[in-house]
Formats: sequence, structure tokens, C-alpha cells
Amino acid sequence: MDKSLVVSEIAELRSQIATWRKEGQRIAFVPTMGYLHEGHLSLMRQARTLCDRLVVSIFVNPTQFGPNEDLSQYPRDFDGDLAKIRSVGGDLVFFPSNEAIYPPGAQTFVEVTELTQVLCGVSRPVHFRGVTTVVSKLFLIVQPDVAIFGEKDFQQLVTIQRMTKDLHFPIEVLGGSIVRESDGLAMSSRNAYLDPDLRMAARCLSRALREVRARFEAGERDAKVLRDTAYEIVSSTSGAEVDYVDLREPSTLQIVEGEAKETDRLFLAAYLGRARLIDNAPLGGACGL
Ligand code: PAF
Repeated sequence: MDKSLVVSEIAELRSQIATWRKEGQRIAFVPTMGYLHEGHLSLMRQARTLCDRLVVSIFVNPTQFGPNEDLSQYPRDFDGDLAKIRSVGGDLVFFPSNEAIYPPGAQTFVEVTELTQVLCGVSRPVHFRGVTTVVSKLFLIVQPDVAIFGEKDFQQLVTIQRMTKDLHFPIEVLGGSIVRESDGLAMSSRNAYLDPDLRMAARCLSRALREVRARFEAGERDAKVLRDTAYEIVSSTSGAEVDYVDLREPSTLQIVEGEAKETDRLFLAAYLGRARLIDNAPLGGACGL
């Protein structure tokens, strides 16, 4: 496998970025943890249309995994990832070691306090602190003009947008649409954990989103009725155990009560065996469901 795109040293990455900047080129950045699928590639294609150069990072960030989570089993396919990044026109793959990102004795973290207390923050209490810390480091190392994050991890996207504003990073943070399998399941590296029965059961997430959107389209506006419709579909699916089903306002992530609007978003998380899957969609408007 041709590894000419790959840079592991921060100094080497900075020198390449400085050369591009001197030439007046704009840089887009897509951070990943590898094991790339079509969802990641669509973010890269989007990034490619916005800038002259595309930098992708592959780093399985230990600080965003809790002690009982899947860090050691997180799926990896470095050679496959490189081929995919090359196929969408990536210019550079940043593949740092743990020690490069977290120098020995590291004790500095970045934390967004409120947006991270709800939804995934409840069952994954250290997760977002790990994400915002590593993304800050990557932003400072790569210094892109634009960075793109998938809307499947919508809470992560709004948290990073908040952090970018609060810390005055001169970076435009954009969301990329969720890419789905033909039966509606949102693409995720963790879908690899599903056996055939659980893979079938996992369809309950997109089914719940579709049903709630259909009810909204048909005129239902009661936030509780809409939320309970989704809860009923996921909780009655054999093999799925609900973590949360919430209807929330998309920028503050406050719970919606009373009358729902089309921009309000339904957020779902469920355990299917050892996989914890998440999905979300707005009540109205186009969203690929
Ligand atoms: O979404 C992910 O893959 C990760 O949370 C990210 C943004 C690459 C940080 O490790």
C-alpha cells in the first residue's frame, strides 16, 4: 500500500500546511477515528468542494472512551482507509501516535459544560470532554479553514460549534448529512458489531424517525405524542434497549415541550447487543429518510 499521503509527525504536518498556506490555498479538515464508511467519504467529498486541500486525520482517541467502552476492540482498517481517502481526493492523512497527541504527563482538557450534560453525555460522562480536547488539539495542529463533522453525531457537532465560538478558533465548522444503508440504518463504524438478528432489529431507529416525521407531516404537533411514538417503536423491538428518546431544540439541545416545530429534532440511542447506536432527524424538511 502506498503510504505517501501519510504524515505522523506534527512538525512535518505543520510544514506541509505552511507551504500550502504560502501558496494561498484553503484547507479543509475531516477528523476521523478510521474504519471509514460512505458517511465519512461523503464528508470528505463535501470538504473537497469547499477548499483546495483536504486533510483527514485517523486517530482513535483514548480520552473519549469510558473505562467500560470499546476502545480496545474499536474496528480498524488502516490500508482500506488510505485507499478510500485517496479515492475521494484526500491530500494528506494525519496519523499521529498517542504520545504525539497526549505528551507524557498531559493534564490539559477542554470542556463544554452544558451541551454535554444531556443525551449521550448521561451514559458517556467522559466522552465529550475527550472529543473537545482532541478536536482542539487537532484544530491547533492542522489550522484548517473549514472542518466537517457528520450530523449522525449531532450533539458532537453542536458541541464543537459551541467550543469553536467560545475559543475563537478561526475555523468554519460545518455539518454533513447522515448517510444511510438502503434499509435506513445510519452508517456507523459500530454497525460492524451487529449480528444478522441485531442488524435487523437496528432498523427500529430509522423506522421510529420516519414514523414521527410522517405524524408531524400529517399535522401532529404535540411534542409528547411525537416523542412517545418513537419510544414505543424502539422499546417494543426485540433486541433493542432504549438509552434515550428525546425531542430537543437543535442548537441549545433543550427538551421541547408543548407545540413542536419542524426544526426540532428527535434524538435516539439504543443498545443492540454490545453496540450502542444513535440516530436523529428533524421533524420536518428534507433529511434523506
Ligand atoms: O466523530 C468521531 O469520529 C470522533 O469523535 C472525532 C470527531 C474524530 C474525535 O475523535
